[in-house]
Amino acid sequence: MNALPPTRILAIESSCDETACAVIENGRVLLASTVASQMEMHARYGGVFPEVASRQHVLSIIPVVEQTLAKSGLMLKDVDAIAVTRGPGLAGSLVVGMNMAKGLALGLNRPLIGVNHLEGHIYSSWIYNTGEPIPPAPQFPLMALLVSGGHTELNLMTDHLTYKRLGSTLDDAAGEAFDKVGRLLGLPFPGGPAIQRAAESGDATRYNFPRAKLDNPYDFSFSGLKTAVLYAVNEIKKKNEHLPVEDLAASFQETVVDILFKKTMQAARDFDAQEVLVAGGVSANRVLRTRFHSQSDFKVHIPAFSLCTDNAAMIAAAGYYRYAAGHDSALDMDVQPTWPLL
Ligand code: KG4
Ligand code: ZN
Repeated sequence: MNALPPTRILAIESSCDETACAVIENGRVLLASTVASQMEMHARYGGVFPEVASRQHVLSIIPVVEQTLAKSGLMLKDVDAIAVTRGPGLAGSLVVGMNMAKGLALGLNRPLIGVNHLEGHIYSSWIYNTGEPIPPAPQFPLMALLVSGGHTELNLMTDHLTYKRLGSTLDDAAGEAFDKVGRLLGLPFPGGPAIQRAAESGDATRYNFPRAKLDNPYDFSFSGLKTAVLYAVNEIKKKNEHLPVEDLAASFQETVVDILFKKTMQAARDFDAQEVLVAGGVSANRVLRTRFHSQSDFKVHIPAFSLCTDNAAMIAAAGYYRYAAGHDSALDMDVQPTWPLL
């Protein structure tokens, strides 16, 4: 029997401030990936400036696709389908990637697959580099913690593309809390990596910040924690004392990681999960990675650093599983800036 020819998906991601393209084979093998970050451009505003992001995507999208194809060694005709982030994200940013993807799908006469950005983050754990030994794919039932700049939620995955939401944040997302606390500690944007850096020389036990008690044990709330850091900062400033940024950053980071870890473990036990997966920008955090890898009772999947924050490889991976399941989006598909995973 002849083996099936490989299926190659080219994906485009432009939901926020990275213009990205990637090609993935059979949902898992990364052939090429390019991420053009606009981070430095937005840092001066202390956050992503939507108008600037959209204009920059327009400038970057064609070179990013061309570079990715060149790196993959493929021609456009070798691509079987085009996947694109449909949402959630900034409308003006999403639309640039969407139009590029539509142009490619139409010109090449290939299917177009609209992908949910959050599903993309989850599927980053299926990816490995071409030439690497094949790592085992995550096994279901899988407890998936999604921690990005806009979302924090716990979902039970019982099969590919099949989710049950157990809880989510009632206010700020974990990444958003990192960004806001970074700002009030006077650290540069984005707050997550800046807090991680400052915390390296800090004492994580110096401040005992509160944890919200919630009716649903799988929900999250970080706004009280953020306010507690603000009060601590104000107290110190009132007394004209030196602000111990490192200790505050380390204590805040430790509290967030502890909350995320304990809730995920409890959910995994309560729902008889076989394995655990952590995805989204905050999964790049070193303290979080160490905690999950060293203390979990379950096998843990966390993507490689380069796949934690926004990229198109994850959209290609999720797009492959949608494609394999027969999903095909119409060419008049519109972007969906607000689009829950389920
Ligand atoms: O997934 P992502 O790149 O974009 C969204 O889909 O939101 O996540 C961005 C978030 C930001 O809030 C950023 O501060 C956070 O991920 N982040 C981190 C780290 N790297 C990025 N948070 C904590 N520690 C990090 N090392
Ligand atoms: Zn993201």
